[in-house]
Amino acid sequence: MLRFLTAGESHGERLTVIVDGVPAGLPLTAADLAPDLARRQGGHGRGGRMKIEKDAARIVSGVRGGKTLGSPITLDIQNQDWDNWKAVMSVEADGLKRKPITRVRPGHADLAGMLKYGADDARDVLERASARETAARVAAGAVAKQLLGNFGIAVHSYTRSIGAIEAVLPGRVNWKAVEASPVRSPDPKAGAAMVAAIDGARAAGDTLGGMFTVVAEGVLPGLGSYRQWDTRLDGLLAQAVMSIPACKGVALGAGFEAPYLPGSRVHDVPVHVAGRGFGHQTNRAGGLEGGISNGEPIVVHGLMKPISTLLKPMPSVDVKSKQPVKAHYERSDICVVPAAGVVGEAMVALVLANVLLEKFGGDSLPELTRNVKGYERQLARR
Ligand SMILES: Cc1cc2nc3c(=O)[nH]c(=O)nc-3n(C[C@H](O)[C@H](O)[C@H](O)COP(=O)(O)O)c2cc1C
Repeated sequence: MLRFLTAGESHGERLTVIVDGVPAGLPLTAADLAPDLARRQGGHGRGGRMKIEKDAARIVSGVRGGKTLGSPITLDIQNQDWDNWKAVMSVEADGLKRKPITRVRPGHADLAGMLKYGADDARDVLERASARETAARVAAGAVAKQLLGNFGIAVHSYTRSIGAIEAVLPGRVNWKAVEASPVRSPDPKAGAAMVAAIDGARAAGDTLGGMFTVVAEGVLPGLGSYRQWDTRLDGLLAQAVMSIPACKGVALGAGFEAPYLPGSRVHDVPVHVAGRGFGHQTNRAGGLEGGISNGEPIVVHGLMKPISTLLKPMPSVDVKSKQPVKAHYERSDICVVPAAGVVGEAMVALVLANVLLEKFGGDSLPELTRNVKGYERQLARR
């Protein structure tokens, strides 16, 4: 089983993630983690923080000579801004600079977190609730992608919509073109309109949300199980993607469109093609039937609310004076849908790597490969 645990505050010294359960013998270097960390930092509409940070993960344990050992992998991402936050985030009481934030921000964990932990400074809450933590998830996800890549599984994402602007999807998404777009749009015309919409929101002191889509190609049929509610792959993916900060909805395949369509326009017709085996004429199910992968690409949509921190702060309350105030402003992004897609890829990759290991086991890459190949031979005989 592959699992991971992150630690670290947004303006703390560093983020750390431990990835446990990766088989031995997987080639892994820091360079394998760099591209996704850079992709998470991009996208038109990001704020000042992303100009300061240049995320790089250092591999601290679990790898020797460029190959995993089968032991826990520790990854470490240094916060570049640490020098400016040393006093505010001091671990020691000695030298701690405290300027309590009491004007809680709507749409953030500030108020609920202060009530929950008995805090009198929203800084104690927002530092961990911040989506800075998603950098650690992306580093862990890159490890999962590296494992999946050995089995021909590739995980991509694109921006489906920003605000009211929706991409018109081409028959086949050109992933290189998506990465070249400033908003990671598969539709250049919609991409240009999305950039303009973000600029408009920035000028108005407002923010925008939207929708990203993650596509995992090359997934074998039979991952996940209908055995129990918590073994269904659809549920595992939904939980993983919904856990991304500001993600307020997850849909699979035809998802939120399906309730408005008759069954005959939703369900995919199974077929058998000589030499290729079983498949489907369409993929409206998003590669999942009965909580199991069905061999088609897995398609997961994440619906992102608009960013909560507004340049023109919303009305709020001061938890100390209990008086109405304008919300505290903390340096912020305008739109993060393109970046959230990259985080979505990481979460989907981590779930898929886990169910792959659950089905095929193996302490080393050769052992896992042997098990997968045996299953592929079994499928080919059908
Ligand atoms: C990659 C990424 C970057 C984010 N950056 C910001 C930001 O700069 N400002 C902000 O207010 N929210 C940002 N968010 C969203 C907040 O972290 C999130 O809305 C907040 O923690 C409350 O959680 P909830 O929206 O899930 O309830 C970001 C989310 C993601 C995925």
